[in-house]
Amino acid sequence: MGVWWWKLLFGALVGILLSTQPCASQKVPRYTFMHNATTAAEISHYDYIVIGGGTAGCPLAATLSKNYNVLLLERGGSPYGNPNISNLAAFGAALSDTSPTSPSQRFISQDGVINSRARVLGGGSCLNAGFYTRASPQYVREAGWDGKMVNESYEWVEKIVAFEPEVKQWQSAVRDGLVEVGIVPNNGFTYDHIHGTKVGGTIFDQHGYRHTAADLLQYANPTRITVLLDATVHRILFRVKNGTRPKAHGVVFRDSLGRRHKAYLKEGPRNEIIVSAGALGSPQLLMLSGVGPAEHLRAHNIKITLDQPSVGQGMSDNPMNAIFIPSPVPVEVSLIEVVGITDFGSYIEAASGENFAGGGGSPRDFGMFSPRIGQLSTVPPKQRTPEAIAKATELMNNLEEAAFRGGFILEKIIGPISSGHLELRSRDPNENPSVTFNYFSDPRDLERCVKGLSTVEKIIESKAFSGFRYPNMPIPMLLNMTASAPVNLLPKHTNSSLSLEQFCRDTVMTIWHYHGGCQVGKVVDGDYKVLGVDSLRVVDGSTFKDSPGTNPQATVMMLGRYMGLEISSQRLRADQTR
Ligand SMILES: Cc1cc2nc3c(=O)[nH]c(=O)nc-3n(C[C@H](O)[C@H](O)[C@H](O)COP(=O)(O)OP(=O)(O)OC[C@H]3O[C@@H](n4cnc5c(N)ncnc54)[C@H](O)[C@@H]3O)c2cc1C
Ligand SMILES: *[C@@H]1O[C@H](CO)[C@@H](O)[C@H](O)[C@H]1NC(C)=O
Ligand SMILES: *[C@@H]1O[C@H](CO)[C@@H](O)[C@H](O)[C@H]1NC(C)=O
Ligand SMILES: *[C@@H]1O[C@H](CO)[C@@H](O)[C@H](O)[C@H]1NC(C)=O
Ligand SMILES: *[C@@H]1O[C@H](CO)[C@@H](O)[C@H](O)[C@H]1NC(C)=O
Ligand SMILES: *[C@@H]1O[C@H](CO)[C@@H](O)[C@H](O)[C@H]1NC(C)=O
Ligand SMILES: *[C@@H]1O[C@H](CO)[C@@H](O)[C@H](O)[C@H]1NC(C)=O
Repeated sequence: MGVWWWKLLFGALVGILLSTQPCASQKVPRYTFMHNATTAAEISHYDYIVIGGGTAGCPLAATLSKNYNVLLLERGGSPYGNPNISNLAAFGAALSDTSPTSPSQRFISQDGVINSRARVLGGGSCLNAGFYTRASPQYVREAGWDGKMVNESYEWVEKIVAFEPEVKQWQSAVRDGLVEVGIVPNNGFTYDHIHGTKVGGTIFDQHGYRHTAADLLQYANPTRITVLLDATVHRILFRVKNGTRPKAHGVVFRDSLGRRHKAYLKEGPRNEIIVSAGALGSPQLLMLSGVGPAEHLRAHNIKITLDQPSVGQGMSDNPMNAIFIPSPVPVEVSLIEVVGITDFGSYIEAASGENFAGGGGSPRDFGMFSPRIGQLSTVPPKQRTPEAIAKATELMNNLEEAAFRGGFILEKIIGPISSGHLELRSRDPNENPSVTFNYFSDPRDLERCVKGLSTVEKIIESKAFSGFRYPNMPIPMLLNMTASAPVNLLPKHTNSSLSLEQFCRDTVMTIWHYHGGCQVGKVVDGDYKVLGVDSLRVVDGSTFKDSPGTNPQATVMMLGRYMGLEISSQRLRADQTR
């Protein structure tokens, strides 16, 4: 008696466990064309060489491989089989891993905000919060893109990586709160960027399994593409023929054993090198290859290919500010699902529950807002020292379970208008360049933050949200309550009144939408060709003046596909009229 019962229960449990496994192994594509750079030839030749297998680079290389021989060089490893990347609940695990082989490379801007950049095939789409949403029709128009081809490119991406999230109780309350405070209409679930409140897409499927830009390589022609991992490009090689413009014709890359390889373009007028190394990587690599501000390059003993003062200029990061609202009742674990698109240039989003961000130790974590990943809004940016981070992490680890019940409502601003610049620290491509974003240097950015935060406050006080905050707790007390808790979201004011301007500046964090450095019209032309040199383009987030949509990844992937199509058809036309 009893034994059979246990067996039955055990069997049922195993059954449940097996059936709810995300079937990760089935989702791992077998890419016969993906190799470790250590196995690469010393010298090889291609029609196209794409530098950076990130969010833009993967769809771009896949598209070009339909008709041409393509080499895709990625400095990081494969995302497949790494639960830190694949599982929604592990958000932040990769971001908190600061080892040299981590899929994320931490950097700290001169502003003092701690930030991260990707180092893995699939790029930022392997680290991000998954929210998937298109750019506005106005953004598409102003970019000069063809609207029909843009839509087709988005659809091409969405077939593989975009899903509708299952919106649970806490996210629903935020959505209803947004509508209640006037961010209307309620547009339901849509990828489109329209004023009002909506549920957007996500790259996490219904099992919480992440689909990344690397999955878009399923579209590649396996016989015409080569993807090399752990392949760090050190330099683009230029040929300068007598009196003509410098022409990119090859790259130097190193594998993980430090061995040098060279890849060249095959002879032919239309073969090209395309840089898709991201907003930090692309301007950095152009500079390392002699394309940049002459004075600055000279200071690093870099031979000048082209004096181009705009390379590294116009670097922006959209500031993010957030308020944590402890909940009297349990909440789901969610990353971003709902967004309020206001008419004053502020976007309101939210995340809830304990997203496990660390290896070992406590599973309790504030996810997107965890000191483990470098987010620390309790002290102004420049005071976010390693010691401050360590202290906050320890405090977080010692919090009671109940303290994590709740969620963050955040706002980020459109644009931004404020911008800064990027400079080399050394000639080592592995070392982060120095970057300055000048958050809120333009007063219009600050005003948008203040309006966004006052809207967040209204949502917190809305009827729809009332089930998820403690009753009888006005905002100042709410902020002050978190201030007296080990995780403190209230900045210490010299001024006892709660100035939202000061709150914006003191609690500014990143939402990792940084962009710029190789802007259209400054460094590249409308076809993303690098001005002043031949056979070289830049296609990725570094070309943006403003961040597209409420969150950029959909448009970054779209741009990779779009430019792949555009380059192929431009070439076809040119070949026909020859
Ligand atoms: C934590 C986090 C959360 C985010 N959340 C969201 C979100 O929810 N929704 C959203 O839309 N966006 C989000 N984003 C932003 C979005 O992911 C990025 O804007 C986007 O991935 C940038 O794409 P990219 O192609 O410009 O650069 P990347 O994707 O970074 O690609 C650049 C690639 O180039 C490689 N590389 C760089 N230098 C070299 C070199 N010298 N040699 C070889 N390879 C090189 C890098 O390893 C990388 O793989 C988030 C980003 C992060 C980091
Ligand atoms: C490539 O091979 C080297 C040497 O064997 C190894 O150290 C490295 O981890 C490999 N990289 C990948 C992405 O498999
Ligand atoms: C592209 O799709 C959007 C909706 O996602 C629509 O508003 C727009 O009109 C479409 N553009 C074209 C040119 O079809
Ligand atoms: C460079 O071009 C000029 C004019 O086109 C020519 O006179 C000269 O001989 C060329 N020099 C070399 C080294 O090719
Ligand atoms: C996952 O992340 C943890 C914590 O950051 C780290 O210790 C571990 O090595 C990572 N695992 C992989 C496979 O990258
Ligand atoms: C914040 O808390 C402190 C100490 O508990 C108290 O002295 C102060 O009046 C509070 N301020 C506000 C604005 O609630
Ligand atoms: C204190 O805050 C108020 C309200 O935001 C502001 O007007 C005032 O300038 C601040 N004073 C100081 C000394 O910072």
